[in-house]
Amino acid sequence: TQSDALVLFGITGDLAHKRIFPALYAMAKRGGVNVPVVGVATSKLSSAQLRERAAESIAKSGGIDDRKALDHLLSLLSYVSGDYNAPGTFTAIKEALGGARRTTWPSRPRVIVEKPFGRDLASARKLNRIALSVFAEDAIFRIDHYLGKEAIMNILYFRFANSFLEPIWNRNFVASIQITLAEDFGVEGRGAFYESAGCLRDVIQNHLFQIVALLAMEPPAYQGYGAVHSEKTKVFQAMRPLQPDDVVRGQYTGYRKEPGVAQGSDVETFCALRLFIDSWRWEGVPWYLRSGKCLAETAAEVLVELKPPPQRLFDDSAPVDGRANYLRFRLSPNAAVALAARVKRAGKEFVGDQRELYLLEEQPGEQTPYERLKAIAGSHPFQIVLAGKAHPRDEGGKHLIEQLHAYARALEGSLPVAYLPDYDMETALALVSGVNLWLNTPLRPLEASGTS
Ligand code: BG6
Repeated sequence: TQSDALVLFGITGDLAHKRIFPALYAMAKRGGVNVPVVGVATSKLSSAQLRERAAESIAKSGGIDDRKALDHLLSLLSYVSGDYNAPGTFTAIKEALGGARRTTWPSRPRVIVEKPFGRDLASARKLNRIALSVFAEDAIFRIDHYLGKEAIMNILYFRFANSFLEPIWNRNFVASIQITLAEDFGVEGRGAFYESAGCLRDVIQNHLFQIVALLAMEPPAYQGYGAVHSEKTKVFQAMRPLQPDDVVRGQYTGYRKEPGVAQGSDVETFCALRLFIDSWRWEGVPWYLRSGKCLAETAAEVLVELKPPPQRLFDDSAPVDGRANYLRFRLSPNAAVALAARVKRAGKEFVGDQRELYLLEEQPGEQTPYERLKAIAGSHPFQIVLAGKAHPRDEGGKHLIEQLHAYARALEGSLPVAYLPDYDMETALALVSGVNLWLNTPLRPLEASGTS
């Protein structure tokens, strides 16, 4: 399904400046932006000023090497200023869309929501209820941009596309897992936002926990959202609640002088956690997570440290450099996967060094997370699975399928349908990815039940 337009709320913010404009530009260079892009925010700006900002952000992030693509993108860009609580803002957006291409709202608008998604469980649930009162569940994309990073997608791939890892990927061989997200810069003008968040909410409970889940989860039953989601959920269910001794919080010097930050603020800009996952696979293995701003360098990395060999045969067989064998996933700034093992140094002595075998170094053609948004937004909102008797060769099945196609036409156009005649519905659902709709009762005729 082709999108009609892209409406970006918060277009004057940090995320748009740092990430969204450069991502749109990268997409424009590949010919992937062909719809009106309407930016919305409260600041009083003109569309021309927004275009200037967009060009600035693109120039700053990586330079402008394709003037035509930039001009094309800028020609699609317009701006609506307004308060999100004022209905007039939405009338103005509607007008901006009408002027650009169409006169009605799209029939099935999709919405992508960036974090913060609430501040705690209660506010997240409230926001969820509001979103669901306006959009269908399959039209809401709550995203964590970390999951769109090549290096993080590779964790899932690397774990389950290889067989050598599985035998050692457990409490018998893994000594600890360390996940670091270090940044050498401060809050950079986001003081007011950061005051409401802090390091734990800003990056640990989302980005780092998603990495934990990918590393700790059991193999999903199939490659698809539903199966991965349910395996990740089990990891979170098995996480032992944190005790005060498991957490260290810190704040960089100078944070309290940042604009928007309270003088006596005790919001943490650094946080380190020790976690345990009480599962068959991970019992007793400590997971160390840490993140902070204004640290010595900018780097994100996972280090899976293996236990040393059981017997100390060689003088240096204990981890002399402080580390046993390990597997390292470098997540940023560059992506890499390295396996470290000891090898003997030339000579008559039995001494050696830890050497890293690089399995992956940066590869060309990587897309940034926000370039993937279009793929999310454009993916089909429905997939229908027909199991058991609902097969096109049966009379009843044929009838049902015709009805479904009629529904589909009335809704959007076409509908991917999977026929799994030899399975019951539950097994069928476990085999098919991206299932959003489960019809286990016969449909009534289209005229009678409408298309809702
Ligand atoms: C964001 C946080 O979600 O992630 C920022 O709000 C943090 O504080 C950023 O700097 C890190 O992600 P990336 O992709 O910029 O390394």
